[in-house]
Amino acid sequence: MEIHHDKHHATYVANLNKAIENQSGLPEGNIEELLKNLETIPEAIRTAVRNNGGGHANHTLYWEILMPGGSKSPTGSLEKALQSEFGTLDKFTEQFSSAGLTRFGSGWAWLALDPMKKLKVYSTANQDSPISQADMPLLGMDVWEHAYYLKYQNRRADYIKAFMSVVNWDVVSKLYEAAMS
Ligand SMILES: [Fe+2]
Repeated sequence: MEIHHDKHHATYVANLNKAIENQSGLPEGNIEELLKNLETIPEAIRTAVRNNGGGHANHTLYWEILMPGGSKSPTGSLEKALQSEFGTLDKFTEQFSSAGLTRFGSGWAWLALDPMKKLKVYSTANQDSPISQADMPLLGMDVWEHAYYLKYQNRRADYIKAFMSVVNWDVVSKLYEAAMS
């Protein structure tokens, strides 16, 4: 996790900063504004912003929603919404895990809220962010090999199981409630 944060995430931040320095006319505001408006970004730096900006935003969420011993399951309105969308919490976990397991190569599994406020589970390739497709990410699971190779080698399924056991559902529930209010 230290290498993941201090080396991998830090590299995305450094490369994003390098790509956008001395650029004018970029969407103003925060990283979300850049990712929401990729098509308006000059072509010469668009891929760098997509990859490194996505890398920064995705990892920022990843660190926020993980906590050893964090609240073990969703509560309140998120719990109800997950049950209504996926049937049961176990079925949601199954679908989310499977999105991560079946993503070929590098990418992320997501629980995201679409513009119609519907919960969705899917995966994206590389560092592509749900924000770039107008969705709001609530829970993101990094399935790049760099996320698990040192501890789990090729056993992505074991990493996914371990990941699900340290999700801090309080944070995910708060993101959901804020987005719905
Ligand atoms: Fe990562």
